[in-house]
Amino acid sequence: MTQRILLAPSILTADFARIGDEVRSVAGIVDWFHLDVMDGHYVPNLTFGPSTVEAINHACENPLHVHLMITDPGRFAPAFAAAGADRISFHPEVVEDPDAVIDQLKELGVGAGIAVHPDVPLDRIEPYAERAAVLLMMSVRPGFGGQKFLDEVVPKIHDARRMVQETGSRADIEVDGGVNSSTIDRVVDAGVDIVVAGSAIFNGVDAPAAAKKLRERLDVLAASRDE
Ligand code: DX5
Ligand code: ZN
Repeated sequence: MTQRILLAPSILTADFARIGDEVRSVAGIVDWFHLDVMDGHYVPNLTFGPSTVEAINHACENPLHVHLMITDPGRFAPAFAAAGADRISFHPEVVEDPDAVIDQLKELGVGAGIAVHPDVPLDRIEPYAERAAVLLMMSVRPGFGGQKFLDEVVPKIHDARRMVQETGSRADIEVDGGVNSSTIDRVVDAGVDIVVAGSAIFNGVDAPAAAKKLRERLDVLAASRDE
């Protein structure tokens, strides 16, 4: 049975004047939605909070992955869980005790994700891999959509796949940043389970067509990966 590779659009480059319509336009094509929360401290950008997550939760049935690019994930996790997040990823380098945040997320009933900044070596997050629901491998520097894919992250994704297998972790491997029709093959080959795509889908042209194209490519790649 071919293992489906999931597609999770980031809404960061969507038209926020019509965010509900944008989400609904691709909800039937994609799997998760990826919601990038930024606080202007961890990254030099500011996006949205729990009320936007709640609105999106009401606009679709898809599961929601909240990516916290903020300096105090533990403080805001309860509000995002209450708003409808199914998974919450945070950057462990910003907290004293990442295990405590993972415990808190599990108590909130959401999947705990470890977001891996391109500059953070994989061995720094190995202690948490076993307890994580997802390792969010960032292939751009966090802060903005529409950036160029960082090729140097491909071997790191391979290593993350091997680490998950060796530690017996059940974490999904997810890639986030700069993924489009010209980079998607490389990340699937490296062993991802889930692909985030923002500006490759929400680019003001035709989101459903772009989502369909990536969905179809993932189905072809998943089938050939299992041969
Ligand atoms: C960047 C975010 C990513 C980004 C993805 O800080 O975490 O989710 O928005 O957008 P694209 O696919 O356009 O790089
Ligand atoms: Zn993200």
